[in-house]
Amino acid sequence: MRILSGIQPSGEPHLGNYFGAMRQHIELQEKGEAIYFLADYHSMTSIRDAAARRRFTHELALDYLALGLDPERAILYRQSDVPEVCEIAWLLTTVTPMGLLERAHSYKDKVARDTEARVTITHGLFAYPVLMAADILHYNPDIVPVGQDQKQHLEMTRDIAGSFNHTYGREVFKLPEPMILEDVAVVPGTDGRKMSKSYGNTIRMFAPQGEIKKAVMGIVTDSTPVDQPKDVSTGLFQLWSLFAKPDEREALFARAKSGGLGYGEVKKDLLARILEHFAPLRERRAAWEQRGHDVEDVLREGARRARTIGAPILAAARDAAGLGAASR
Ligand code: TRP
Repeated sequence: MRILSGIQPSGEPHLGNYFGAMRQHIELQEKGEAIYFLADYHSMTSIRDAAARRRFTHELALDYLALGLDPERAILYRQSDVPEVCEIAWLLTTVTPMGLLERAHSYKDKVARDTEARVTITHGLFAYPVLMAADILHYNPDIVPVGQDQKQHLEMTRDIAGSFNHTYGREVFKLPEPMILEDVAVVPGTDGRKMSKSYGNTIRMFAPQGEIKKAVMGIVTDSTPVDQPKDVSTGLFQLWSLFAKPDEREALFARAKSGGLGYGEVKKDLLARILEHFAPLRERRAAWEQRGHDVEDVLREGARRARTIGAPILAAARDAAGLGAASR
């Protein structure tokens, strides 16, 4: 079974990314041939600082290695190290109806926000789903594990693959199955809304400990006095639950509901659990960080392996479309 997914280097992997996708990616490497890439081409639709992009991409590689990505088993590569994806994107974009892209939620959301944020809406942003389809179809994976927010992009990938196959009368691309990672509920941010970089309510798992402490202690709670019952559906308790075993959860929730449990105590315990959970991963990250060139070796080897897998699929697509010399 071939598994493929990508994530954008945004500079702030946080608990939302961790529980939402990264942790599952690591687990899935045991289940088949996993291919993960750092989507630096995609980041060009939002980040314009070249040095920041390079740094974020390198850091994201470190994060994956810290979380336990095993380069002997899974493939980890930097998207721009396999520029063939841009060629596939062209083959696909010429069979993608405008109307399909115009219906994309993420594009429509960004256009709607554009008026406030004053960012330029580029053709690249519009074409984002086509590049994503190219990432996927280049390797004909069986499953693509992504968060709920990417579901529509995967449906578009299936449509685009079908359109290419239909246009050129050959089954070049396989329609990938989405694997929507929704076993983990929405990870609440420090203000109770969904944890997201754009809300500024994140807890970055590899931030300096002082920063994590500040974020956890700053989690928004109401003014219910210590002795009064607490609402366990609120962000603090939900976040805490992600780090607790079912029986611990039951015990703490029972105390919260009967009164006598203060928010401060829950925050301190949450902080301790976060630090403990990530301590070994933090160490592994520091070790990779010290051997910076080893990270580059992993990415280079990953790109080489990815390219080998993708080459026959790209060749078949070129041939189907009548590009280059006829195959003999
Ligand atoms: N759009 C995805 C995200 O923002 C990242 C991504 C790019 C991706 N290409 C992909 C995910 C291909 C899965 C497969 O999360």
